[in-house]
Amino acid sequence: MKGIILAGGAGSRLYPLTLVASKQLQPVYDKPMVYYPLATMIENGVREFCLISTPHDLPRFEQLLGNGSAWGLSIEYRAQPKPQGIAQAFLIAESFIGSDSISLILGDNIFYAGDSFRAAFDQFRSGAVVFGYHVHDPERYGVVEFDSQGCAVSIEEKPQQPKSNYAVPGLYIYDNQVVEITKSLRPSARGELEITDVNVTYLQRRQLQVHRLNRGFAWLDAGTSSSLHDASAYVQTIERRQGIKIGCPEEAALHRGFISLAHLEKISTEMPNCEYRDYLLNVCAEAKRTPVLGTASE
Ligand code: G1P
Repeated sequence: MKGIILAGGAGSRLYPLTLVASKQLQPVYDKPMVYYPLATMIENGVREFCLISTPHDLPRFEQLLGNGSAWGLSIEYRAQPKPQGIAQAFLIAESFIGSDSISLILGDNIFYAGDSFRAAFDQFRSGAVVFGYHVHDPERYGVVEFDSQGCAVSIEEKPQQPKSNYAVPGLYIYDNQVVEITKSLRPSARGELEITDVNVTYLQRRQLQVHRLNRGFAWLDAGTSSSLHDASAYVQTIERRQGIKIGCPEEAALHRGFISLAHLEKISTEMPNCEYRDYLLNVCAEAKRTPVLGTASE
C-alpha cells in the first residue's frame, strides 16, 4: 500500500505564520506538523510516499524530508498549483499510484492512536475504508450517519444539519478504483473535487467500510492559531508524562523494521546536539536492552 500526504492549501487561517512556511511545516510542540501524519503512515506500514504541496512550498518539504531514504522510505513530490480539493490528489499522483491501492492522509491531521488503524491497513483488500470520530462540531467535517446495525448509510460534506456527531478524519484507504472514480467527479459548489464525493461513490457501490474510532483516541486539528496551540500543549503533556514522543518518523521507522538500530544510531549521532537527538539515542539504548519487534537485522 502506497501513501499520499496532502500538504497543500494557502493556510490563510494561520496568517501571518504561513507567509514564510506553510501550515504543515509549522511546529507542533517539538517537531514540524507534517512529521505527525508521516509517522502515522509509517506506523501502519506505508513506505512509499508521494507528498503533494503548492509549487511554492514543495522545496521546503524536500529540504525537510529528502527522498526518505534516511528513514527507509521513498518520497516523491508533486505540485498542486491550486487548492482544488483533496480528491485531486489522486489525479496528481496517478502515475505514482499505478495499479496499487492507496492511503491518503492530510498533512494537518494529528492522530494519537496507538494501533487503532493497524487492522484497517493490515486487512485491507479492496473497496474503501474511512473512519468515524465523535466530535462536538460535526458541521465542520464530512459527517457519516449509521443505521441501527452500525452500518454507514450516508456521508455528507459539512452539512448544516448533521445526521450524527461522527466526523470523517483525514485518513482514507482506497483500492485502485479511486482514480477512475475521481475522474468521474465534478467540482462542488466550492470548486473542489470533494473527498466526500469519492466516499459516497464507494458507499453507493456498497464497497465502503467505516470504522468507528472509540474513546481514548485523539484526533487533533491544527488549522487555527488556537487549535495549533492546543495540539502543541497536548503533545507536550503526553511526551513529558511518558518520555515517549508522538509523531517521530525515525522511531516509527525503527519499530516497523524500515531501518536498523545501527542506522538509527548513526543518523541520530549526526544530528546537532539537541533534545530530539538525545531522545533518539535513548530509543536506541532502550532498544538494545529490550529489542524492538520488527527491527531490521544488520
Ligand atoms: C476536509 C474534508 C472533510 C474531512 C476533513 C478532515 O475538510 O472535506 O470531509 O472531514 O477534511 O480534516 P476541509 O479540510 O476541506 O475543511
